[in-house]
Amino acid sequence: MAHARLTVTPSDIIAPVSPRLFGSFVEHMGRAVYTGIYEPGHATADERGFRRDVLELVRELGATVIRYPGGNFVSGFRWEDSVGPVAERPTRLEVAWHSIETNEVGLHEFADWAETAGVEVMNAVNLGTRGIEEAASLLEYSNHPENTALSELRRANGRDEPFGITLWCLGNEMDGPWQIGHKTADEYGRLAAETGRVMKWIDPGIELVAAGSSNADMPTFGTWEKTVLEHGIDVFDHISLHAYYEETNGDVDSFLASGVGLDRYIRRVADIIRETLDAYGSDRTIGISVDEWNVWNQTRFNEIDKPPLFAGGWNEHPRIIEDEYTVTDAVVVGSLLMSLLRNADVVSMANLAQLVNVIAPIRSEPDGPAWRQTTFHPFALTARFAQGSVVRSTVEADEQSTADYGAVPLLDAVALADGDETTLLLVNRSTTEALEVAVDVEGAPVASVLHQRTLGVPDGGSRHSSNSQSDPDAVLPLDLGIVTVGNGAARVVLPALSWSIVRLATPRTTSTITTPGTDNV
Ligand code: AHR
Repeated sequence: MAHARLTVTPSDIIAPVSPRLFGSFVEHMGRAVYTGIYEPGHATADERGFRRDVLELVRELGATVIRYPGGNFVSGFRWEDSVGPVAERPTRLEVAWHSIETNEVGLHEFADWAETAGVEVMNAVNLGTRGIEEAASLLEYSNHPENTALSELRRANGRDEPFGITLWCLGNEMDGPWQIGHKTADEYGRLAAETGRVMKWIDPGIELVAAGSSNADMPTFGTWEKTVLEHGIDVFDHISLHAYYEETNGDVDSFLASGVGLDRYIRRVADIIRETLDAYGSDRTIGISVDEWNVWNQTRFNEIDKPPLFAGGWNEHPRIIEDEYTVTDAVVVGSLLMSLLRNADVVSMANLAQLVNVIAPIRSEPDGPAWRQTTFHPFALTARFAQGSVVRSTVEADEQSTADYGAVPLLDAVALADGDETTLLLVNRSTTEALEVAVDVEGAPVASVLHQRTLGVPDGGSRHSSNSQSDPDAVLPLDLGIVTVGNGAARVVLPALSWSIVRLATPRTTSTITTPGTDNV
């Protein structure tokens, strides 16, 4: 058994937990929309064609903000195609994913779905093939109340009240050569800033997300952010960061340390934001929008799945990157979410990419069932129970060496404080050994365990176990009784290769209660 110590300091607050950290993403790609959230004729479909079984899982997942409609898709998208009478909407070649787009689902349908699901829409404008005019028109159509041609068109199309969309992405992954309308940092920065300015003149209440780097290995990473920010330091509210992780060449130890990679990536972008704001003497706040993150077996997609897809015919909603997630993937997704929380002082929002079928926590089959992938569970439990504030915690633990990130502690941990409760998110990165963790909460003795769930290798399974249509609950988070409490502290024994959430009752002792406006004696 390996050993670790975790000391939590509830009085040292990193940041309150924002619901925006639990966003997700629906792109017009593969089967995310068609036969994902929308399938008229499905046994569970409502009168508008939305699958109720998927809707229920979306609610259970606890997703808050959904980015739409792309992704690479948005860089070739004409938003006007997707509004008005469905029968009159054009069918188009969708070049980003080599598909046919019928536009049967568009802005109105998606906004209706979002309302039913209880989520906020985060809309992206096309800065690949299009520019200021089209972005401004889309915003006016969406958010202007009435008495202009575009707002009246929206009303004629059945939506009297404005959609009131607050969050707007200025294009997508414009640093990537794969992107339709790929640009240099200067070209993009200028276009995004000028577009953003006009958008804010139309609706000053919106928040704008500039496109940052597609991943930390991009050759332009760093200079891209600096240049883009210099163009729009006065207008951007967030800059995006995209991050996908996968296990390569069987290097599971590096894969399990992906959160370390994400921590470093986020802190580097935060430094660039800080330095650029300082250089301009700006007192604005620009957050990091991690608006695409997940585990994605990208090597397999690029080498095996993509060539035939792009060489083949043009089809409606083909199956694209329907990765089936394992226990190991779920543990990594849990730890990536922990990284987002740990950096909640600079991460303003985040979107698990994506929501349904396309590298997604929820899977559905046409005419068939919907089910939870392994990765669904750490996300849903974190979204539900990560309340209050992220607080400082210190890990002392045995380490293991990784090829990608050097020596990393076996224990990955994040602590949250909410009144008299402390929530711990814990990952044991060892694939072979259980990890005993001695937990101390400073100024708040542990009184009892309120809740505990662990997701790990199931009995009789392996780290490759997954959930599937035929066995949707093969991997579930369970109460394994891993926590014991005594003498005001807790002892947690984490199984090898596992993610856990533990909620503890930790009544604060009077000497540490801080009353605003009084000295803390
Ligand atoms: O989420 C899948 C794709 O990954 C998105 O379309 C793109 O933005 C990213 O490269």
